[in-house]
Amino acid sequence: MDIGLNWELLDKPLIWKNLFSNDNPVDCEVGFGNGEFLIHKAMEYSDRNYLGIDYSKKYYKKAIKTVEKAHINNIRLVWIEAKAAFLILVPDKSLSHLYINFPDPWPKEKHVKNRLLDKEFFNIAATRVKNGGEVIIVTDDPFYRDFILEEVESTHLWDSLFHKGYTDELSNYYRTKYERKWRSLNKGIYYMVFQKKRNPDLKYSIDKYEIDDVALNDFNPSLLHKIKGKVILKDNSVVKLLGYTIKEEGIQLDVLLKDGSLFRKQALFLSESENNNWILRIPDYVFSGCSVKTFTDTLKGLNK
Ligand SMILES: C[S@@+](CC[C@H](N)C(=O)[O-])C[C@H]1O[C@@H](n2cnc3c(N)ncnc32)[C@H](O)[C@@H]1O
Repeated sequence: MDIGLNWELLDKPLIWKNLFSNDNPVDCEVGFGNGEFLIHKAMEYSDRNYLGIDYSKKYYKKAIKTVEKAHINNIRLVWIEAKAAFLILVPDKSLSHLYINFPDPWPKEKHVKNRLLDKEFFNIAATRVKNGGEVIIVTDDPFYRDFILEEVESTHLWDSLFHKGYTDELSNYYRTKYERKWRSLNKGIYYMVFQKKRNPDLKYSIDKYEIDDVALNDFNPSLLHKIKGKVILKDNSVVKLLGYTIKEEGIQLDVLLKDGSLFRKQALFLSESENNNWILRIPDYVFSGCSVKTFTDTLKGLNK
């Protein structure tokens, strides 16, 4: 099995046994960066499995190479946004430990909405972590630390292992590149450990739709110009046709799709079945969220 998971092609939610070829417990790191923390853990605990999630393609590709070079077979990496990963890929109550080392603090007031570790994150995480399982977070930012403590507290789902919510030292905890950097500058480091005490009542999901092929009869492809570059919003989704290219096999549509926190660029193909009659088939591997539905409805609207 490859280290990097092409999640669109796999059964969802993931089946750990198929990915790791064993029934060992699964731990997860969100935002693995260069992958060194996962590698350290996986080497220390060869009887556990490690899933790494990061939304940076650059880090994803780099970390795959590093893990491959180290010949480690209990790590799998996936390139996807973290909340979307939990909702689409990670089976319910299946993680023992969830690590987040140096999450981006987004210190400016206008960027606070970008912080990953908000109440919603801890609610969603509580659906994927086993009862008694733990979330372990390390940050150098005292403001983000206090924000996290408030958000966790507001869920009533997690117990902190420390009286004041965090500790300045956690023995034997592996120090990543960020930790080494901040320590060399004498910055404080804060460790938080939360144990899951109960499941949330709320349900979170990214809905999938059954989407039929779209037949565009007597369609003039130059109409695509009308929607190119336009941002189309519907419910919690966004879609934008970035561009289109005429190819031998049809017209390639480059589309930006966003459903909740799941975003991706997708190439879709319009093929000509007979003169001026076109068909758009959404391949099985495409996650058919509301954005895909909105896109197909928009194309049908163009054809009216
Ligand atoms: C500051 S770096 C820390 C990297 C690593 N954990 C370390 O300590 O060296 C934050 C990492 O989190 C990833 N990240 C931030 N927000 C994310 C999200 N919502 N979903 C997935 N990855 C995310 C970034 O791409 C980056 O790799």
